[in-house]
Amino acid sequence: MQLVKTNNELRTQLNKLDTGCSIGLVPTMGALHEGHLFLIRRSLEDTDFTIVSIFVNPLQFGPNEDYDNYPRTLEIDCNVAAALGVDFVYAPSATEILGRSMRTFVDIKNMGDRLCGAARPGHFRGVCTIVAKLFNLISPDRAYFGQKDIQQFSIIKTMIRDLNFDIEPVMCPIVREKDGLALSSRNVYLAKKERQEATVLYQCLKEANEHFLAGERDAVSLIKHSVEKIETKETARIDYVEIVDEEMQPVSQIAKGDILAVAVYFGNTRLIDNVIMGQDLDV
Ligand code: PAJ
Repeated sequence: MQLVKTNNELRTQLNKLDTGCSIGLVPTMGALHEGHLFLIRRSLEDTDFTIVSIFVNPLQFGPNEDYDNYPRTLEIDCNVAAALGVDFVYAPSATEILGRSMRTFVDIKNMGDRLCGAARPGHFRGVCTIVAKLFNLISPDRAYFGQKDIQQFSIIKTMIRDLNFDIEPVMCPIVREKDGLALSSRNVYLAKKERQEATVLYQCLKEANEHFLAGERDAVSLIKHSVEKIETKETARIDYVEIVDEEMQPVSQIAKGDILAVAVYFGNTRLIDNVIMGQDLDV
């Protein structure tokens, strides 16, 4: 496993690859957990050469968010990546990948200002910009993302189409703790009671999916049921509970494949989770 920190070195190394060698890219912000590892394993299975990028991207954090405190564990992450058989870890510094005065950004209409974008203005602009840069620097054949951030996946898929990137986006299922909490680098922020109460998200998504499978199609009533369940938890404060289609637009009548998406603060930690209606929640 090679740790690559500069764009020059990245280019030199990529030029050495045989033509026809397929490249899989797994973009991450590090602090790797089993959710990330699922993506990496999928890329290792599917492609000849796997690159994991690790960059805590300042463009996607708001002024009052956790950019400074975001967990940074590069050495451990590299050991994990090496043990899995990853070919490269690309971990640029901010100046290396962003330069000194970025003026060009990738924005996406009508998708980036809803759901997570409403509470985090500019977040998806930051995500799209960095992912577009990674795509240009690496030219992967496939790029791997998690369903955990389903709005992010939907937006990146749209960006790939709109900007003609010749890249196949692959969405991998949500990896969860035994009690159902979706793995997240931010779970370490949760106090004991918040951590216990956070399992309500999984329970409410599971229940909603069961109601859907039993014939419930009314979005308002399913949302109401979920909100009431989450509100029983003392440390929970809802940001949103919504049912949307694949393009992240709200629906009133639920169809198979629509998504129930939630964002809830437990204390100061904002957690997101979702279920695709009609699909099993457990990997
Ligand atoms: P990060 O939060 O590190 O997540 C990297 C990838 O891992 C994302 O595609 C995310 O959806 C996936 N992931 C996280 N938790 C998961 C889980 N429990 N199960 C399955 N997949 C999971 O998402 C980002 O970084 C950034 O926005 C990035 C795309 C790297 C751009 O900066």
